[in-house]
Amino acid sequence: MKKRIFSIVGTRPQFIKAAVLSRTLKKSSKFIETIVHTGQHFDSNMSDIFFRELAIKSPMYNLNINGKSHGQMTAHMLEALETIFIKEKPDSVLVYGDTNSTLAGALAAAKLKIPILHVEAGLRSYNKNMPEEINRVLTDHLSSLLFCPTQTSVHNLNVEGIREDVHLVGDVMYDATLYALKLIDTNRALKEKFVFLPENFALLTIHREESTISLDGFQKFLNYVNSFAKQNDLKIIFSVHPRTRKFLENSQISLNNLILIDPLSYFEIQFVLSRAQYVLTDSGGLQKEAYFHKVPCVTLRSETEWVETIEAGWNRLWSIEHYKSRQDIKDYGHGDAASKIVKIMEAEL
Ligand code: UD1
Repeated sequence: MKKRIFSIVGTRPQFIKAAVLSRTLKKSSKFIETIVHTGQHFDSNMSDIFFRELAIKSPMYNLNINGKSHGQMTAHMLEALETIFIKEKPDSVLVYGDTNSTLAGALAAAKLKIPILHVEAGLRSYNKNMPEEINRVLTDHLSSLLFCPTQTSVHNLNVEGIREDVHLVGDVMYDATLYALKLIDTNRALKEKFVFLPENFALLTIHREESTISLDGFQKFLNYVNSFAKQNDLKIIFSVHPRTRKFLENSQISLNNLILIDPLSYFEIQFVLSRAQYVLTDSGGLQKEAYFHKVPCVTLRSETEWVETIEAGWNRLWSIEHYKSRQDIKDYGHGDAASKIVKIMEAEL
């Protein structure tokens, strides 16, 4: 009988990663995958569109848990996932990244002694003010198989005493970009939708909790972005996350110099990235995706988990003026991270 893998997803980046792995899992004779959507992201352009575009199979359950404090969200998800796991008895639970959905999935599984498989294990910012840092540290310490995207992430786990069942597999986000690249170049609808893109532009995204707490802090980002645009003779395309939209509502902050757009689908953002001169972002995923498209990035944070993008001169923190000298990054693999993960699962589970 096939082993039952339950994938827990809830946010935009998790849908993208799960799509890659789902496609590969489908080809395995050993596993059958079931998807559970926590509902953390729920707007159509933050959720449904990814399921449609990336042909992810419909979730068996959608918990519809969102818009709560961190503790409440994680607790409600934990309770609901435990009930599902008791009923469905999965053989393993697959979690992605570092969101509240990741931690809730890992905790629910751990309490029922179900093996946890963590994709994107070992990343660290060493900044506990980020809810994501807490989620990823705890998830790693509960996991049975840890799939690391980079050498640094393997090392980080090592330092914390996690040395067994740690696998360096490369980055499933790179698999996803290669898949998208085949489709976007010839896609006429994308070309038509984005005819408005200026000749020279930078893509801007800001959505993290720590970036959207203080209006003063946000204004500092904008001042930086505006002077960056002036210096480099660029227009700024700002894709506005729902958290950021809510935060800016009723504020006096002026976004007049920016071209605002709604959140994009996966193929859309890959298309825009492939045409951008720069990326300015506080997102984790975009820092690497910028590199995949060979677009220089400025990270609007005080640290990053993706240190190799900085070392290789494709990324810099906004507090640091210059890039290091540019080179290729080997860590992210060759677009075969998902097949490596499934092979390890076949051998170990
Ligand atoms: C979450 C993750 C973060 C990840 C990001 C990807 C945590 C702690 N953070 O942050 O690691 O990088 O997703 O995007 O889990 N909202 C909507 N519509 C939506 C989604 C959210 O209106 O479709 C609103 C929520 O109600 C909330 C705010 O946006 O008020 C923030 O949502 P939240 O679920 O906390 O996650 P993100 O900020 O997206």
